[in-house]
Amino acid sequence: MARRRQLYEGKAKILFEGPEPGTLVQYFKDDATAGNGAKKGVITGKGVLNNRISEHLMLRLHEIGIPTHFVRRLNMREQLIREVEIIPLEVVVRNVSAGSLATRLGIPEGTRLPRSIIEYYYKNDSLNDPMVAEEHITAFGWAGTADMDDIVSLTLRVNDFLSGLFLGVGITLVDFKLEFGRLWENDDMRIVLADEISPDNCRLWDAKTSEKLDKDRFRRDLGRVEEAYQEVAKRLGILPEA
Ligand code: C5P
Repeated sequence: MARRRQLYEGKAKILFEGPEPGTLVQYFKDDATAGNGAKKGVITGKGVLNNRISEHLMLRLHEIGIPTHFVRRLNMREQLIREVEIIPLEVVVRNVSAGSLATRLGIPEGTRLPRSIIEYYYKNDSLNDPMVAEEHITAFGWAGTADMDDIVSLTLRVNDFLSGLFLGVGITLVDFKLEFGRLWENDDMRIVLADEISPDNCRLWDAKTSEKLDKDRFRRDLGRVEEAYQEVAKRLGILPEA
């Protein structure tokens, strides 16, 4: 790790300078936080599992034509990614009521929503990632209207595809968070999927028992956190290398 320049350290990942211009190395930590850092802990082996799970999902999405920042996995905890200009939004998709939607609007957790709902949160730790409307996003210039068209259509395609992929392995995709970035190639700009897709930023419930197989096990002190992440990897047909 010391051989590369560290560019950024987040709550669950570190970004290092990549081997070629325009690339970065994304390192997955075992650290876990909840409530914007209010609760801190370590989930042993989480980084290894999330690296593998996110690789798998990004590759499947690439196969159906979703552009992503993912290039290739380098080792147990690192992946090579394209450098993008991150759009400061957390794009949350909900299929079933849970978490902050259940709390805010009183829709009982577990209620299937009449249609998928997209919400936007402004990525800003000191403001606690407030929910914003598309009006705020375009008015303050965080993304333009054409960017938002791309973000919505990519988000809906990701949701359709991942809902089916997870259902195929007996898991309900309750909700999840995506991040997008701008990828510049010469003078062309494309919006691409960035960050990671893992049990850290998805709610994944066993389709039969509704058992939680995601970070809510950590957030709500339900125990067997690492086992839940392992179960997701196992069902997806990927397990970390020995
Ligand atoms: O907490 P809330 O119900 O709004 O979370 C919705 C979804 O977004 C969950 O799957 C959660 O894991 C994800 N999320 C995230 N990072 C955040 C906030 C939410 O990955 N900062």
